[in-house]
Amino acid sequence: MNSDAFVFFGATGDLAQKKVFPALQALARDGRLDIPVIGFARSPWSDAHFREHAKKSIEQHDTLDPAAFERLARHLHYVRGDYTDPAAFERLAKALGSAKHPLHYLAIAPSRFEMVVRGLHAAGCTEGARVVVEKPFGRDLASARELNATLHASFDESAIFRIDHYLGKEPVQNLLYYRFANSFLEPIWNRNHVASVQITMAEAFGVQGRGAFYDEVGATRDVVQNHLLQVLALLAMDPPVNTGADALRDEKLRLFRAIRPLATDQVVRGQFAGYRNETGVAPNSNVETYVAMRLAIDNWRWAGVPIYIRAGKNLPLTCTEVQVELVRPPQRLFPDDPPHAANTLRFRLSPDVLIAQGARVKAPGEAMAGRDVELIARRAAHEDRLPYERLLGDALRGDAALFTRDDCVEAAWAVVQPALNETAPVEPYEPGTWGPAGAARLIAGGHWHNPHLTPPTPPSA
Ligand code: BG6
Repeated sequence: MNSDAFVFFGATGDLAQKKVFPALQALARDGRLDIPVIGFARSPWSDAHFREHAKKSIEQHDTLDPAAFERLARHLHYVRGDYTDPAAFERLAKALGSAKHPLHYLAIAPSRFEMVVRGLHAAGCTEGARVVVEKPFGRDLASARELNATLHASFDESAIFRIDHYLGKEPVQNLLYYRFANSFLEPIWNRNHVASVQITMAEAFGVQGRGAFYDEVGATRDVVQNHLLQVLALLAMDPPVNTGADALRDEKLRLFRAIRPLATDQVVRGQFAGYRNETGVAPNSNVETYVAMRLAIDNWRWAGVPIYIRAGKNLPLTCTEVQVELVRPPQRLFPDDPPHAANTLRFRLSPDVLIAQGARVKAPGEAMAGRDVELIARRAAHEDRLPYERLLGDALRGDAALFTRDDCVEAAWAVVQPALNETAPVEPYEPGTWGPAGAARLIAGGHWHNPHLTPPTPPSA
């Protein structure tokens, strides 16, 4: 069943400008949004002002497609209101007219979810409706449970869509596809052949004016509990029995439950120099803008394989990459065997897209000496579709496969929970470096794999 109206809370906010309006334009372009789109927020705007705001947002953050925008603009309406005001929700109900299955998109702080859901419920707007909620879904396990209870009071779990925009990214979906559409990976995808897994999410920018938000959150809550644990789940879970939403989420859940709760001595938190001067940040803030951790998965497939995850702001470049190292050959046959793992699998998730397999080949010449090469399975300059276009389109159709289920979101919080209230001082690092020196101590006998943006030189014939 398709939704027949799109209601958008937080329509005047930052996320709306950057991600949501461009996605709505793309959906309108494909003819997938011929329904009323109602913005709901506190600013005293008219429909015309709202349309103009949408247009400017798209011009600033994407490319305006005049025909597609026109198609979207026809459907844009605005309802002004306070989230605590029952009359505002009555106005919304009126604006919904004959719509029977609206989709309510809560692009607002989780502290407001309850108010909005109650308002919607009281005005009769939750019946037959779906709700899409933004991350962060709570700030720890207890608050996630509370949020789930709040949502469940008005919506069935099948009508709740928890967004993690990473799951809408093509290269992230490709992890699932590549693993299970091929048979060559499965025999080696386990503790017998994989030596370690590293996931790095590096960003070359700071908090970009979001200091007040970020200082409440920090790197672990902002990107590890959600984006990076989802990436890990796709890399490490068992094959789902089919591609249905529940089959996928069942396997993710089993994986999350097998991850040992993060021990505090397996985490290094860092903060870039200058963070405390950002607007909205406490002058004595101990919030991490960088986190590195070592996780363990206690199941037959992964027991004993270290999983390293790190994420940071103001690192040397912007890139998300997975590097899987395979175990070394059992015998050191050639004298020039390198100190690093010869066989790797590299999944670049952004800014470009890459799947590559590292190997050693003999260098031409008399000596039995070699060099590293990479077999490239897929390379693309960037991903084509906007994650929000994909996700909002799926939610409008009621396809929940790329959304996080209640039990999965709670299980992911349980993984990072022990490290959330860490009071030990963050380790400082200089902007433009790979984070605090202390992160190296998490990797015994190895090192962090730092992504580099220039493509490796192709091997000569
Ligand atoms: C968001 C985080 O969820 O993801 C940001 O709040 C982060 O801090 C962003 O920068 C990264 O997503 P993307 O798709 O821009 O790489």
